[in-house]
Amino acid sequence: MSLDLKSLVRTIPDYPKKGILFRDITTLIEHPEGFRESVERIAAAYRGQGVTHVAGIEARGFIFGAGVAIALGAGFVPVRKKGKLPGETIGQNYALEYGVDTIEIHADVVGAGDRVLLVDDLIATGGTAIAAAGLLRRTGAVCDDAAFVIDLPDIGGAAKLKAEGVKVTSLMAFE
Ligand code: PRP
Ligand code: ADE
Repeated sequence: MSLDLKSLVRTIPDYPKKGILFRDITTLIEHPEGFRESVERIAAAYRGQGVTHVAGIEARGFIFGAGVAIALGAGFVPVRKKGKLPGETIGQNYALEYGVDTIEIHADVVGAGDRVLLVDDLIATGGTAIAAAGLLRRTGAVCDDAAFVIDLPDIGGAAKLKAEGVKVTSLMAFE
């Protein structure tokens, strides 16, 4: 029987703010098979499709994105929070389910001819992923695919990202 990945995600109510149901992937990644399966199921959906780079969003997107990049034989692009990258950057502000932030990439990290798969642990409002896809596209790279471990469909982020022309997959949903 295949491993039930959803049962390995822990839910913590009222973190980081009252009313938020926090879907905690630390319990998934501490489980050796759960972590390996999560990475492999994402990679399997994109194998043979010409992905040149996987972009992972700081911080939890690094965990899964790096594994998927290795599994696909692709490079890894860190999408970082403001002020962390040493070279010339391009950035984008975005709204979170619980705050506001800025993400950045190195301006020259990818460009025309590159095909980038965006990976993150979770999509809620979609603000982070839409900002990241927009940044990656500003370089001239193609970013038409995004994969998430968790979708929160009631919040609607995946639908918004799809409306931007990005095909979205996820391993599980919490309604
Ligand atoms: C979380 C999560 C996604 C984003 C999803 O990251 O890992 O990146 O929020 O929310 P959205 O779809 O509403 O934009 P967070 O900014 O909390 O940072 P972290 O990974 O450093 O904990
Ligand atoms: N990032 C944004 N919303 C979240 C949630 N409900 N659980 C975990 N991470 C999140």
